[in-house]
Amino acid sequence: MQRTQVAIIGGGPSGLLLGQLLARQGIDTIVLEQRSRAYVEARIRAGLLEPGTVELLHTAGVGARLAREGLVHEGFELAFDGRVERIDLKGLTGEAVTVYGQTEVQRDLGEARDTVGRPVIYEAEEVRLSGLDTGHPRVRYRRGGVEEEIECDFIAGCDGYHGVSRQSIPADRIRTYERIYPFGWLGVLADVPPVSHELVYANHARGFALCSMRSAHRSRYYVQCPLDDRVEEWSDARFWDELRARLPEAYAARLVTGPSIEKSIAPLRSFVAEPMRFGSLFLVGDAAHIVPPTGAKGLNLAAADVRVLCDGLVDHYRAGSDLLLDEYSTRALRRVWKATRFSWWFTTVMHKFSDEIFAARLQLAELELLGESRAAAQAVAENYVGLRFRRAEHESR
Ligand code: FAD
Ligand code: DHB
Repeated sequence: MQRTQVAIIGGGPSGLLLGQLLARQGIDTIVLEQRSRAYVEARIRAGLLEPGTVELLHTAGVGARLAREGLVHEGFELAFDGRVERIDLKGLTGEAVTVYGQTEVQRDLGEARDTVGRPVIYEAEEVRLSGLDTGHPRVRYRRGGVEEEIECDFIAGCDGYHGVSRQSIPADRIRTYERIYPFGWLGVLADVPPVSHELVYANHARGFALCSMRSAHRSRYYVQCPLDDRVEEWSDARFWDELRARLPEAYAARLVTGPSIEKSIAPLRSFVAEPMRFGSLFLVGDAAHIVPPTGAKGLNLAAADVRVLCDGLVDHYRAGSDLLLDEYSTRALRRVWKATRFSWWFTTVMHKFSDEIFAARLQLAELELLGESRAAAQAVAENYVGLRFRRAEHESR
């Protein structure tokens, strides 16, 4: 039998970030991850960090490479109807976002964990949670054919949408809300210079496209595609032709193409589970909620949950107070629903849902308004950089 204060299920960004923040407060954790380290570190996912997430990574002591290599973006562009409107994040909010891939965050957190003295237990199979409502939670798992057991005070369910944590909560103690979108995103990573120095989100009659990047030499591009498309149906040439067709002429003309180094299709979904707690188990990040990627909120929401839970656990162990832990779900969900709303809105405005002209006209009206009304643009910018009240609330304590 092993013993720890907080058992963390999942060694993705949520799990490792929570482990790192708690380690810096002298709180012991064991992290269980079902995959190998190589697999977890190779997954290509999010690319954009809100300023609040950047701050939190610095607090966790993993900000050095991020500060050196992250690309600070003070705005982004919206392309529609043959023109481009820039959302001036800095001018509208005083803040900027940082382009730094989730793969890099994962690597930095993995290296930091190596120095904690409690290495992540990778390839942990058949993880099972018990005693969640008894005050004496247990985690069982198998590794290398050997059955292991952990005794702990709390369990952090950081094991993503398909994980075991949420599924361990009795059905009558949790409610879920879901919306599935009728399309996916085909993403390509390529070692070519980005088409623009800022991100370009394009609304086009052929469907949505996004030009993002990982560095000055590595681009990340996406096009909306039918849900049942398979990656094999998309040759590099077909992808580049489709992307070019959805971009404004000036951008299409200067698009540099090259062989893809990764290509994948992701479905789009909104999902929220509430409450985010059952007894000693706290759900964190994708285990509790999924947003469509359009607003780049997934990873940032996960980090925001981690911050709230970490505050609660520190108060529990340091001050003997459970006030913040008891408020975890309510506090986290306030942000989750606002990010769910923004991601849904941005997805709705940018994608082609049908051939209906009325819907297309409404999208153009929404996008035009952003160029004409500072208030409308500011609301988008505030959501994009991450709503500030959460940080203000955090800082005032
Ligand atoms: P995860 O990253 O899912 O980590 C959960 C971890 O738990 C995984 O390592 C998993 O292997 C492990 N695990 C699962 N089950 C178990 C178990 N039973 N026992 C032990 N371990 C377990 N967000 C954006 O903002 N922009 C994007 O472009 C973007 N693209 C994405 C593309 C894809 C294909 C996916 C799946 C997500 C994408 N996201 C994107 C969302 C973003 O990556 C997530 O919000 C973020 O990874 C959440 O981190 P997490 O640690 O909560 O969950
Ligand atoms: C990326 C993904 C997003 O969903 C987004 O809104 C911005 C950037 C990316 O992968 O780079």
